[in-house]
Amino acid sequence: MAFSPNDYIAVFDSGVGGVSVLRHLKRLMPCERYIYYGDCANAPYGKRSTEQVRQLTLAAVEKILAEHPVKALVVACNTATSAAIGHLRTLYPELIVIGIEPALKLAADRFPGGRIGVMATDVTLREEKFDLLLQRWGASCRVDKISAPGLVELVEQGLEHSEAAFGLLEPILAPYKGKLDALVLGCTHYPFASAVIRDILGPGTALLDGGDGTARETLHRLQRADLLAKPGDGCVIFKTSGEEAAFKALATRLLNTREV
Ligand code: DGL
Repeated sequence: MAFSPNDYIAVFDSGVGGVSVLRHLKRLMPCERYIYYGDCANAPYGKRSTEQVRQLTLAAVEKILAEHPVKALVVACNTATSAAIGHLRTLYPELIVIGIEPALKLAADRFPGGRIGVMATDVTLREEKFDLLLQRWGASCRVDKISAPGLVELVEQGLEHSEAAFGLLEPILAPYKGKLDALVLGCTHYPFASAVIRDILGPGTALLDGGDGTARETLHRLQRADLLAKPGDGCVIFKTSGEEAAFKALATRLLNTREV
């Protein structure tokens, strides 16, 4: 397979969550052409069986690669990464394939011996990949696994700053107020709700996510392969298995939202 610097960087998530990673990618590589695909017809992934997430991810990636020339695939979904990243690398050995995982290393480096919450989907928290991450980086800290069912759905509805988001997160996070050094946002939808999360936890807890690290890794891999786009105008094309117009409107709004 021959790749060209003009090919797309494909960014995949179950829905709009991966736009939080796309923001970092665009900041670091503004001249690239991005094709962003959200599998909204099948979201949320986090409540499904691992096998279902794997099959959905493989099917979505197959479709993206069949329709567009792609030089790198960013799986901007912690859930899909835990279920399918190994399979993707086996299926597409020549393609640059980057996954995302909860930023536990970042948290452990920044707060050695600290107390760290990891908020992620049920699939991410129960998969072997997360256990390995815990063994590797969590040993020196106290790690609390925190599930936030329903938050992905609210972000998908554009309600990331709403009363509903506060009502959902308050009972989950209030018990941790003043107790966590860091909260790792281990689902790419969650950074969009960071204002509400910060309201509940207060300023003493750092909010960390893997978006910046994933974008940097993508940049380095493309640099090494000599596949970075030449200076010029980049673009973003949004595609979804769900309702196209609503998806585009929400994804565009989120892409232009400043990180808080
Ligand atoms: N955004 C995805 C993640 O990073 C999952 C959302 C979902 O449950 O579909 O885990």
